[in-house]
Amino acid sequence: MIRINENYRKLKASYLFSEIAKRIASFQASNPGRDIIKLGIGDVTKALPAACIEAFHQAIDEMSHEGTFRGYGPEKGYAFLREAISVHDFQSRSADISPDEIFVSDGAKCDTANIQELFAQDIRVAIPDPVYPVYLDTNVMAGRTGTYDDGRYGDIVYLESTQDNNYIPELPKEQADLIYLCFPNNPTGATISKDLLKNWVDFARSTNALILFDAAYEAFIRDESLPHSIYEIEGARDVAIEFRSYSKTAGFTGTRCAYTVVPKTCMAYDRSGQKYSLHDLWNRRQTTKFNGVSYPVQKAAAAIYSEEGKAQVTSLIDYYLKNAVCIRREIQALGYACAGGVNSPYIWIDTKSDSWEFFDLLLNEAGVVCTPGAGFGKCGQGYVRISAFNDYEKVEEAMDRIRQALGR
Ligand code: MLT
Repeated sequence: MIRINENYRKLKASYLFSEIAKRIASFQASNPGRDIIKLGIGDVTKALPAACIEAFHQAIDEMSHEGTFRGYGPEKGYAFLREAISVHDFQSRSADISPDEIFVSDGAKCDTANIQELFAQDIRVAIPDPVYPVYLDTNVMAGRTGTYDDGRYGDIVYLESTQDNNYIPELPKEQADLIYLCFPNNPTGATISKDLLKNWVDFARSTNALILFDAAYEAFIRDESLPHSIYEIEGARDVAIEFRSYSKTAGFTGTRCAYTVVPKTCMAYDRSGQKYSLHDLWNRRQTTKFNGVSYPVQKAAAAIYSEEGKAQVTSLIDYYLKNAVCIRREIQALGYACAGGVNSPYIWIDTKSDSWEFFDLLLNEAGVVCTPGAGFGKCGQGYVRISAFNDYEKVEEAMDRIRQALGR
């Protein structure tokens, strides 16, 4: 008899953004013709930067001639992309990461989901609350949690991020072997200083733990004092894996390209305490289960690092940050406390009501989609997240509609 992985029974019925998509579809079916403005899932609306498009076209042309055609690429990604990443994203910030420590992939979602395969079943996992739901769901699927009760899975160490701690969790007081951190944070938009991040690195070093650092939104950082990478912190190379994405940086949500950094000095242990290279384990995993990102997509990604590519990416991010400023200003003017929207494309709003009820209110009365905070964890109850990813005119209109819907 074929049997299921019963851990799946512990999951909530739908993935957060699938549940939202279902609610939008049902709203549209009963309100045909009603114009909806989507500020829910963080999906970009602007076209790819011109430098990426040009590189993409050139690469497609190469693929159309036998002399320049390419089949399977190098397993970790093409050297031209990994070298550009190493120089521009790390060495330029004095972070010692070599091209050989970079694994190009088709998304930070897949990488943050898959990385937990490398670790033992009975480790203790620490996950921020609220946070991007992929970290928790994939550990549930893998059987590292107990059952779900009152908004919490047994056996998980929840790192509560609330207004009281400026959405930066305190170090865990209990054992935590695998620690997920995400800065700038999804969903709260919070950022972390070098000093506070150093506390986490020191904690991981002193307890032989590992940090999984999701930096998918680093390109939105405009405050020069903030770290873009955990490798800007001394000692992080030995205890941290970092995830990056071109999705929000350069409009690649549909194009798909990202990368994961696994330094060669980063270790984990077997029961007897013997050290193993996580770089080697991830390489083993990826070479078995993943066949790389297409050549044209990697060429398009590498174009981000050209002089014109950098300028175009900066103006793309500036565009969304202008939306974020507008959302934050308007929401505060309506009397709501909020976080994020600065160095981040997400605005995290204290609705003083139930998250899903507020979501329904905005959808039904304003035709605006947001993301209910409760979907990101128990501490997200009472909040909604508004994303800055849309056209500026749409954002302005959404804010008008919200003002009217809330009767202010
Ligand atoms: C989000 O809206 O949280 C993200 O777009 C989801 C993702 O990147 O997978």
